Amino acid sequence: SYNGLAVTPQMGWDNWNAFGCEVDEELLMNTAQKMVDFGLRDLGYHYVILDDCWSDGRTSNGSLQANAAKFPHGMRYVADQLHSMGLGFGMYSSAGKYTCARYAASLGMEKQDAQTFADWGVDYLKYDNCYNEGQEGTSMLTYNRYKAMSDALVATGRPILYSMCNWGMDYPWNWAQTMANSWRMSGDVYDSFDRPDARCPCTTYDCRLPGFHCSVMNILNKAAPILNKAQPGAWNDLDMLEVGNSGMTDDEYKTHFSMWAIAKSPLIMGTDVTRMTPQTLSIYSNAAILAINQDPLGIPALRVWQSPAQRQNETYSVDAYTASETSFWTGQLNGGDYVAAFVNAGPGPATMMATMNDIFIDQVTTGSNAPVPQLMQTWDVFDLWANRMSDASAQAIIVGNMTMATNATDGSNATSTL
Ligand code: DGJ
Repeated sequence: SYNGLAVTPQMGWDNWNAFGCEVDEELLMNTAQKMVDFGLRDLGYHYVILDDCWSDGRTSNGSLQANAAKFPHGMRYVADQLHSMGLGFGMYSSAGKYTCARYAASLGMEKQDAQTFADWGVDYLKYDNCYNEGQEGTSMLTYNRYKAMSDALVATGRPILYSMCNWGMDYPWNWAQTMANSWRMSGDVYDSFDRPDARCPCTTYDCRLPGFHCSVMNILNKAAPILNKAQPGAWNDLDMLEVGNSGMTDDEYKTHFSMWAIAKSPLIMGTDVTRMTPQTLSIYSNAAILAINQDPLGIPALRVWQSPAQRQNETYSVDAYTASETSFWTGQLNGGDYVAAFVNAGPGPATMMATMNDIFIDQVTTGSNAPVPQLMQTWDVFDLWANRMSDASAQAIIVGNMTMATNATDGSNATSTL
C-alpha cells in the first residue's frame, strides 16, 4: 500500500445513495450511533463518509468551510465525536473547480484543502471528478489532478485513506495503484439489479454527464475484465452498496453484496442505517462474506465462465446489456481456501455446474504460484447464505478447505454442484 492504508478493502457508510444532498451533523451522528449499536462497527464498517453538499464556500483566507446550518459544531467536532465512538471520518471533495452539486472543490487548492482536512481530523477522502476544467481524456491529465491531491494528503503527515472517484475515466486501474487506495471503475450505481440503461456505458468522456446510472449487473460486467488489477492497498471500487434501498429483492441484494465482497471492492453501506429492516442488517452483517472481502491475500475473485458464452470476451468498453445470464466466479483465499460463486441473473431457476478445474483456473489467470491442490482430495463446502435469515450460527463458517457462496435471484434457487 502506497500509504500503508486499506491493506484490505475499506468498509463504512456514505450518505449519498440514500440521502443525496440532505445531509447534516445529526444524520452522521445518528448513523454512527446505530453502526455501533447494531454491531456494524465491530464487523469492520469503520468509516462514516460525508459526501457532497456539506460546504459553504471558503473563508477569507481561502480555507474550505462547513455549512454552519448543517454542521453547527463544525467539522473538527464531527471528527472528534466519530473518533470517540471508534469510527473514522470520511470527507468529500472534487478534482475540479466545483463538486458535482456545484459546491467549492479542490482543483488548484490541493495543499490548502488537504491541510484543512488533516486539521479537522479527517481519516478518508473521497475525491470526485466533476467540473474538472477539461483536464481529462489522457491518463496524464487525469493522473496529474488526482496525484496532486494524493501528494498533498501524504504531505500533511496524517494517514488519510484516498478514494478516487473518477468513474473509470482514463482507466485508473492501469496507473492508480501507487497513488490511491481505490478508484471507481464505473458510473454511479443505481438501485436496480439489471435494468438496462443506455446511460450506464459511459466509456470515458460521457461519464461526467448527470443522470448516468449503472445497475448491479452493468457494473459487474464492466468490472470482470479488470478485477485482477487490484492489490492490497489499491482496490477497484464498484461503487457504494444499494442494499436496503428497496429497488431490489433481498435475493438480489445478497448477490450485489456477495459479488462486491468477493471482487474485493470497498464495502460502503449506502442505505439509511437508522431505519434498516432486519433483513437488510442481516445481509450487511454476514460475517463469512465479510471475511472473504477482508481476506489478507487480497486476491479478487474472477469470472471463470459466463453464459451466453460470447460475453466471456467482452472488454471494458463494449458494454452491451444482456438480459439473461449465468456466471461462475472463483478466487483464492488465505490458508488454502477458495471462494466460488454462482450468479443467476436470469428470470427463472437455473442449474449450474462447475468442476474443480473451474475453481482453480484463477491461479492461471492471476499468475498466482500457489500449489495446485490435488483434484481428488476431499473438500469441505459451505454455503455462506444458508439459513442466514433464521439461523445466526451460519455466520461463523470460514473453516476447512473451501468456502462457497451461492446466489439465487428473482426468487429462484440456484443449484450448486461440486
Ligand atoms: C458523483 C459520484 O460518483 C457520487 O458517488 C457522488 O459523490 C456524487 N457525485 C455527489 O455529487
